Amino acid sequence: MMLSIRSISAGYGPARVLFDLNLELRAGEISVILGRNGAGKSTTLKTVMAMVPLSGGQIWFSGKRIDQRSTWEIARAGMGYVPEERRIFPDLSVLENLEAGRRLPHGRAPSWSVARIFKLLPALAPLGERRAGTLSGGEQQMLAVARTLMGNPSCLLLDEPSEGLAPAVVELLATLVRTLRGEGMAVLLAEQNVRFALAVSDTAHIIEKGGLRFSGTARQLQERADLRAEYLAL
Ligand SMILES: Nc1ncnc2c1ncn2[C@@H]1O[C@H](COP(=O)(O)OP(=O)(O)O)[C@@H](O)[C@H]1O
Ligand SMILES: [Mg+2]
Repeated sequence: MMLSIRSISAGYGPARVLFDLNLELRAGEISVILGRNGAGKSTTLKTVMAMVPLSGGQIWFSGKRIDQRSTWEIARAGMGYVPEERRIFPDLSVLENLEAGRRLPHGRAPSWSVARIFKLLPALAPLGERRAGTLSGGEQQMLAVARTLMGNPSCLLLDEPSEGLAPAVVELLATLVRTLRGEGMAVLLAEQNVRFALAVSDTAHIIEKGGLRFSGTARQLQERADLRAEYLAL
């Protein structure tokens, strides 16, 4: 098991947001957390990164308990996180952004280089000298993922990566995520785009009001129009 979220509760100050949440992710697996706006998807990813304090439960990563560690230590252990707001440096070039993400490789994670990134994402290659702030939304999302890959993560947390992207770019993102899975990386998505999420994911989870309502395979959820209507319809 790559990531094991065990009965966690978490929140902001006195406001509890997550309640007794369980979620597991294997190496080479893509999993998605689905749920409406405000359900607790981002909070779940932030809790894994220790950016939101845990009030109960445990989080294990690659066989080690991480919920007492700092965000920096968790990242160093191989957890890559791309927040919803995509956190790139707008005033730095694409190449400088990639260099800023570089960390020493560790464990069995593949070792990423700029050359390998450009091979994986050929659309970024001619943009190396461009100021990141001038890129399109899709290019910025690819750069945000690429910059995180430069840290050689073994597990990737992507918060609403498809948000605001044109369908063709969402397709590129799907291809990228599948390629990473093929290399043994684990990917946990938080998404509202059900179609994209179920097309790329092996397993799916639905949360509502910070509680788990469904866990199963993406295929099982594909067949549960009732669940999608109850928890995911806008
Ligand atoms: N920084 C914060 N302080 C207090 N409450 C927050 C904060 N961020 C999110 N929340 C609340 O936590 C709940 C879950 O939010 P979030 O995890 O962002 O949901 P989602 O990502 O599924 O849209 C919401 O009720 C939201 O208002
Ligand atoms: Mg969110």
